Amino acid sequence: MSLWSIARGALFALPAETAHGLTIRALRAGLGPRAAQRADDRLAIEVFGRRFANPLGLAAGFDKDARVIAPMLAMGFGFVEVGTLTPRPQPGNPRPRLFRLKEDRAVINRLGFNNGGAEAAAGRLAAFRSRNAANARVHPRDTGGIVGVNIGRNKTSTDAVADYAEAARVLGPLADYLVINVSSPNTPGLRDLQGAGVMAELVAAVRAARGPTAPPVLVKIAPDLTDAQLADICALARAGGMDGLTVSNTTVERPAGLRSAEKGETGGLSGAPLFAPSTRLLADAYAEVRGRVPLIGVGGVASADDAYAKIRAGASLVQLYTALVYEGPGLPGRILAGLGERLAADGFASIRDAVGAG
Ligand code: FNR
Repeated sequence: MSLWSIARGALFALPAETAHGLTIRALRAGLGPRAAQRADDRLAIEVFGRRFANPLGLAAGFDKDARVIAPMLAMGFGFVEVGTLTPRPQPGNPRPRLFRLKEDRAVINRLGFNNGGAEAAAGRLAAFRSRNAANARVHPRDTGGIVGVNIGRNKTSTDAVADYAEAARVLGPLADYLVINVSSPNTPGLRDLQGAGVMAELVAAVRAARGPTAPPVLVKIAPDLTDAQLADICALARAGGMDGLTVSNTTVERPAGLRSAEKGETGGLSGAPLFAPSTRLLADAYAEVRGRVPLIGVGGVASADDAYAKIRAGASLVQLYTALVYEGPGLPGRILAGLGERLAADGFASIRDAVGAG
């Protein structure tokens, strides 16, 4: 029996949110595993002016408050996206608000941007950066990994654009890239910001507020967009409106075939049932932006095959969250090893050659 199968049994006996809290505490205490494999140069990729040691990232929502960046990078992830962070702290929705759909290898959440606020996270990000800088003086080739910051609005705010701008002002100087999250289903009205007119205004406000390091600005979209909405967003992206798109957030749809008792819970569905719809949207987005705007593919990735399928569909980078719950901390290492094998089998010298290969 592996250590993970024992830990998983214990964690699954607890309510999902309690288990997540314990996991964060264990990671902070240094109990997370370190990936064993050496860096594979074929997996390194440069995207929006940043060099990623590998294309696999931790999706937003796992480390909302920027508490476990270093242990998640040590697990093998090439980058970690913290958040969603809002300008002011907020408690989120009443519990229970996080549900495992075990039979479906899925999760439903209606957390509602529970987070400690931008200022508190900025303090942790600054501490991470200064430790990294000290480390880089000793190990110059160790870039320390890429950290993206995902930002949102407070539930009670009356000016959404001002909220995103404020979060960008506080967190932009500490971010390798910023993500405007307009696709969480758990903040009323949030997804209306995906309309092209307001989105143009939103991105402009974030760009103006992000500070002199000018981190790239991405927009994270919902899998439930209509074709017309997607076309509008991609047209804006093509016109230079944003530096990248993340496809996608969780879905409010409930695909046929879900078996778990919890499938009727309100919230966003993630995990295996999201793989097909989010990968379809990714391929559509890739066709729409005509390869000119980098895409991050996320939704239901649980294996090297899944990650490779996202890359072939047009993703320059891939993220996951839900599969970690089911597969454990060995998953990033297994996916990276498998990606190397798939590149070799297809005769690609670098992951870049596989992006959008179909
Ligand atoms: C999320 N996700 C998410 N996304 C985001 O932009 N901001 C957030 O705060 C959160 N919070 C969050 C909490 C929980 C519990 C889950 C499961 C997910 C969405 C996440 O980043 C990702 O887009 C989807 O979960 C799809 O990927 P997976 O989980 O299928 O790999």
